[in-house]
Amino acid sequence: MRTIVVATQKGGSGKSTLAMGLAVAAQQAGEIVRLIETDPQGTLSYWQSRRGLAEPFVEPIHAPADIGRRLDALARGGVTLVVIDTSSGINALTRAAIDYADLCLVPARPCIADIVASAPTVKIIRNSRRRFAFVLNQAPHRGPRASEAARALIQDDIADIIATPLITLRNDHQDALAAGLGVTEFHASGKSADEICLLWQWVEQRLPRADASYASDPADVESHALLANTAAAMPTEATLSWDACL
Ligand SMILES: Nc1ncnc2c1ncn2[C@@H]1O[C@H](COP(=O)(O)OP(=O)(O)OP(=O)(O)O)[C@@H](O)[C@H]1O
Ligand SMILES: [Mg+2]
Repeated sequence: MRTIVVATQKGGSGKSTLAMGLAVAAQQAGEIVRLIETDPQGTLSYWQSRRGLAEPFVEPIHAPADIGRRLDALARGGVTLVVIDTSSGINALTRAAIDYADLCLVPARPCIADIVASAPTVKIIRNSRRRFAFVLNQAPHRGPRASEAARALIQDDIADIIATPLITLRNDHQDALAAGLGVTEFHASGKSADEICLLWQWVEQRLPRADASYASDPADVESHALLANTAAAMPTEATLSWDACL
């Protein structure tokens, strides 16, 4: 079983949207998926109440100590992928979830303020020796600023820790949430669905092999390239040359 944790202290950056979208895309690709919600706001529970489909099942967890126990049970029960949606801010539940992540995804709108605001979360992820990648979300779909900022990111040597593709700002994501669907179910031939499918493929390639045994002790999970690449890579306002949103 592999575990993805979607986390950043910055509110509204797209944690829940990406958790739902990726969970459904992964299920469509053959994974047996469980969503865990540690956010009392309950966005995923709301989504499931609109869904009318049992899978992927959303399971709220409110106590940090429950996370490891629940992951062990899900692994024994045959679940192959868990996606954990966390709340904004930093709290014990998010820290506990990060401890069990095979890969942390840090959504950020593609602007300096959002990336810098994610620094406390990234620090926790790195202290926990987890792999992570930024997912740039809510990117405008046209205009020269997108390519300018993408070039700037590459020049700033953090391209290795940015998931591809960027996820564009589109109504499909909001309408899918309201309909209780993954965006790949809501408009399967749409561009948002394409992006989320490609993002799942990118993520899947960076997870441990599906048949690797589940390591309930986070220290058992080796950190590879992504962690190494981030040793000095966390951007600050001083190290990023681009100065505004895409
Ligand atoms: N790519 C996107 N295109 C359009 N709307 C989006 C996109 N991503 C997120 N949104 C919308 O932005 C809002 C915030 O997204 P979401 O709830 O996923 O963020 P969050 O990080 O989970 O927020 P919180 O920190 O409050 O839990 C929602 O209305 C969601 O539908
Ligand atoms: Mg949320």
